[in-house]
Amino acid sequence: MRIAITGTTGRVGRALARHFSLSHEVIELPRSRLDLASADCGGRLAAWDFDVLMNPAGLTGLEQCEEDPELARRVNAAAPAALAAFCRERGTLLLHFSTDYVFDGRTPGLRSEEDATAPLSVYGMTKREGERAVLDAGGTVMRISWVFGPEKPAFPDQILERALAGEELAAVADKESRPTFTTDLAEWVAAWLAAGAPAGCFHACSSGPVVSWHGIAVEILAFLAEKGYATPPLRALSLDQMDSFRAPRPRHTAMATERLERLLGRPPRDWRAALREHLESRLISR
Ligand SMILES: NC(=O)c1ccc[n+]([C@@H]2O[C@H](COP(=O)([O-])OP(=O)(O)OC[C@H]3O[C@@H](n4cnc5c(N)ncnc54)[C@H](OP(=O)(O)O)[C@@H]3O)[C@@H](O)[C@H]2O)c1
Repeated sequence: MRIAITGTTGRVGRALARHFSLSHEVIELPRSRLDLASADCGGRLAAWDFDVLMNPAGLTGLEQCEEDPELARRVNAAAPAALAAFCRERGTLLLHFSTDYVFDGRTPGLRSEEDATAPLSVYGMTKREGERAVLDAGGTVMRISWVFGPEKPAFPDQILERALAGEELAAVADKESRPTFTTDLAEWVAAWLAAGAPAGCFHACSSGPVVSWHGIAVEILAFLAEKGYATPPLRALSLDQMDSFRAPRPRHTAMATERLERLLGRPPRDWRAALREHLESRLISR
């Protein structure tokens, strides 16, 4: 199978390219080959021959989206719509990636794929527009959340580095979700392909307890303590204290994974197991 992948300089795009290049022909489409901010990005796809298009590319900085809503709309909404129109016309499979930030997160609990969306930020609004266009064109959307993996440092890597440097730690404790490990995500995408690439929306995150960033930091410190490292103190912050967050963030966006479980024939693994695997390899590669 020929698989075209956008955003291959990003966390998810790199993970997908690495995973699928072992078993398929991968056509990498980083921004330098396909700029999703350009109006003709759909038409430009005709330059490549592929059976599946995966679109993890996106304008992912919440503050940047707030500051440049027109660019956010082009990359997160207009581009997926153009890719979806191209794929529908060609009969090509399309897998697009969206976010738990399409929810307003006002109440605790797990969100299902059918739950109403009500994004709070430009990022969330433009991502919702993009996922709607893909679904309307018969494509597939995987919503992912709090992504981490070996491709690019994320929140767990920052905590790990600071803890190992003995720095005092602080993390937000009143905002919750469930993380997605890129290594697991690539396997779920492979299972989706093997199942005939069903259309529709899938929540693609780990199982395990709903957790805050503070809770993830607690887990990292517990891991380090088990390994014999001294661990620094950790303070709990509230979202309201985060002055650097100019874009509003939803508080409760953990996603239910029953639809993913049916696809896999098993539950996705617990985020604590995925996190520990990631931390183990980070320690080895230091
Ligand atoms: N990271 C998370 O925690 C998270 C959570 C929920 C959902 N998501 C969604 O998951 C997807 C993948 O996220 P990620 O963590 O892999 O993001 P990432 O590491 O920030 O990567 C984003 C990718 O999009 C590319 N891109 C940005 N603007 C572009 C443009 N105009 N044309 C072409 N490519 C462009 C970037 O290319 P450059 O390197 O050239 O900028 C990069 O390759 C995104 O759609 C995001 O909305 C992520």
